[in-house]
Amino acid sequence: MAPNRQYAELLLEDYTGMISEITAVKQYLYHYFVLKSINPEVADLLECVSLVEMHHMEMLAETIRLLGVSPRYRVFRNNQEVYWSGTYVYYGLSLCDMLAADIAGEWAAIAYYRDHQQRIADPYIKELLERIILDEYHHIKLFNDVMQKYCK
Ligand SMILES: [Fe+2]
Ligand SMILES: [Fe+2]
Repeated sequence: MAPNRQYAELLLEDYTGMISEITAVKQYLYHYFVLKSINPEVADLLECVSLVEMHHMEMLAETIRLLGVSPRYRVFRNNQEVYWSGTYVYYGLSLCDMLAADIAGEWAAIAYYRDHQQRIADPYIKELLERIILDEYHHIKLFNDVMQKYCK
């Protein structure tokens, strides 16, 4: 509805914090790269989901800009910028532990979105977060399906 630095800083966490859309994009892409020759079905699923997370990044970047803050890949801690790091990615060793981490990441992202929905009074942002949460539930379903198939 209007520029708001506090809201932008909350959305930066979802966009580029430790558990964030950019971490999901990079994690799913890495899992795709290493699983491609082992399990093409799961690898392709992870690539597709990473594209959806990229779209989430775009919607959050646009919103952060409208709130008056640049969407660089950093969050604020005591007014200090902390840039995104490749150490936030769970790289993993096997297909099943990668999928387990990917599912855990989706649940954690939903928990953060719910918390931020409570703390942001702007109805447009609440609605945007609701739409993203819907996608994250769908990702959990997709990941659970392949987990059941390959991780008995
Ligand atoms: Fe997402
Ligand atoms: Fe997701």
